Amino acid sequence: MIQEKQTILSNIEIAPNIYEIVLSGTMVDTMHPGQFVHIQVPREDLLLRRPISIAKIDFDNACYTVLIRADGDGTRAICNAHASRSLDVLGPLGNGFDTSFLSPGSKVLLLGGGIGTPPLLALAKELHAKQMELEILLGFQTKHSVFYEEEFKPYGKTIVSTDDGSYGLKGNISTVLDILHADTQFDAIYACGPKGLNRMVNQRFATHPHAYISLEERMGCGIGACAACICQKQNDPNHTIKICQHGPVFKTGEVIV
Ligand code: FES
Repeated sequence: MIQEKQTILSNIEIAPNIYEIVLSGTMVDTMHPGQFVHIQVPREDLLLRRPISIAKIDFDNACYTVLIRADGDGTRAICNAHASRSLDVLGPLGNGFDTSFLSPGSKVLLLGGGIGTPPLLALAKELHAKQMELEILLGFQTKHSVFYEEEFKPYGKTIVSTDDGSYGLKGNISTVLDILHADTQFDAIYACGPKGLNRMVNQRFATHPHAYISLEERMGCGIGACAACICQKQNDPNHTIKICQHGPVFKTGEVIV
């Protein structure tokens, strides 16, 4: 983990209030899909950093991409930072997705919901390069909030759904899983999205040997030094663990969502 000033190479609003920001930094060398960075808000009155997951890792050009939804003062201030400005970044943090048990030809299901989708893109790229067979379900609220469909397509069969049916299949990820009967035939399942999606996957695939959820949570320090991000263990609710340190990726059935 390092802390460094990183230059914003580009900053584009790709969907309403969703900004794709490319940053350059030396920490790229050690990044893994599923990890996150902790970005200092470029405003002196907002002290807490914001945890942001990594969407693309470009090892050749020492840069990476994050997607940020501008939904509060802090994230809005980061999204308002123009290209060529720099941001103070701590990272990479947390444990990424475990893929060590997979081999070429393994069948993998990716389940992404809204702003939780980005870390699955870096994972999809890695798994595709290792010749795995991917099926990718992406859920959004409405047509206008859909992003990254074209980015996922080269890596596997990609299906988009919207809650209101204005684009792709109608319904949330759970509904689409029911329609496609896509539950059982995968060697691994990785999910990241809003609480409802993570909870559904945590329960639906609780006994799957290789199903994982990535939790998005408000954080303080990002490095295990405070207790802002605790969650309860499923089989021992009195025992809490820190999402930033032990996650953000957990096996299904490991924690209460
Ligand atoms: Fe401080 Fe996780 S954010 S312990």
